[in-house]
Amino acid sequence: MRAVVVYESMYGNTHLIADAIGTGLEQGFDVTVIPVAEADQAVVTEADLVVVGGPTHVHGMSRSSTRKSAADAAASGGGELTLEPGADGPGLREWLDALGKSRPHAMAAAFDTRTVMPAAFTGRASKGVGRELRHHGFDLVTEPESFIVTKENHLVAEEGDRARTWGARLADLASPAGRPVAGS
Ligand SMILES: Cc1cc2nc3c(=O)[nH]c(=O)nc-3n(C[C@H](O)[C@H](O)[C@H](O)COP(=O)(O)O)c2cc1C
Repeated sequence: MRAVVVYESMYGNTHLIADAIGTGLEQGFDVTVIPVAEADQAVVTEADLVVVGGPTHVHGMSRSSTRKSAADAAASGGGELTLEPGADGPGLREWLDALGKSRPHAMAAAFDTRTVMPAAFTGRASKGVGRELRHHGFDLVTEPESFIVTKENHLVAEEGDRARTWGARLADLASPAGRPVAGS
C-alpha cells in the first residue's frame, strides 16, 4: 500500500513533522513525503492514504499575503529563520482548490503546526485541511492533529516523536484490519 505525505512549510517545522509522520507510516506503507509545490495529481491518485499538513497562519491555512509576511519576518530576522525551498507558494489552500475528485472514499488525514497556546486562541490549519479533504471525497481515518512550535518558531522537543507515533497510528487505522472510518 502507498501513502503520500503532502506538506507546506515556511520555516521547516512542518517539513520535520511531515518527515516524522512518514517514518511512522513506514510500518505499513511505501511512503513518499513531498512538498506541496511538487505534489501533482498523480501522487494523490496513486496513493491509498493521503496525509496533508501545513502551518497555521492567521487561524487557518496560509494565504499568499501570510506567506509574504512570513518571508518578510525571515528576511528581517537576522538569520534566525530560514525559508524552505518553495516557500513562496503555492500553499495548501491553492493546492486543495485545484485537487480533483478522482479518488472518492480514498483515505486521508490532516495535520498542522501551530503555536503553543490553546487551539481556541491559535486556530488550526488542519481543521480547514480536513474539511477540504472531505469536500474532495476523501474519508478521514482520524481527527485532524496539531503539532506545536514555540513563539520563536522552534519545534517543541517531543513533537517529532509524537508525529512519528501519530504516523504509526495512521498506518494501523488505514490498514485493512484497521478501525472503521471516523470523522466524516
Ligand atoms: C503570518 C503568520 C501568521 C501566523 N498565524 C498564526 C496563528 O494564527 N496561529 C498560530 O498558532 N500560529 C500562527 N503562526 C505561527 C505558525 O503557525 C508557525 O510559524 C508555523 O507553525 C511554523 O511552521 P513552518 O516552520 O513549517 O512554517 C503564524 C505565522 C506567520 C508567519
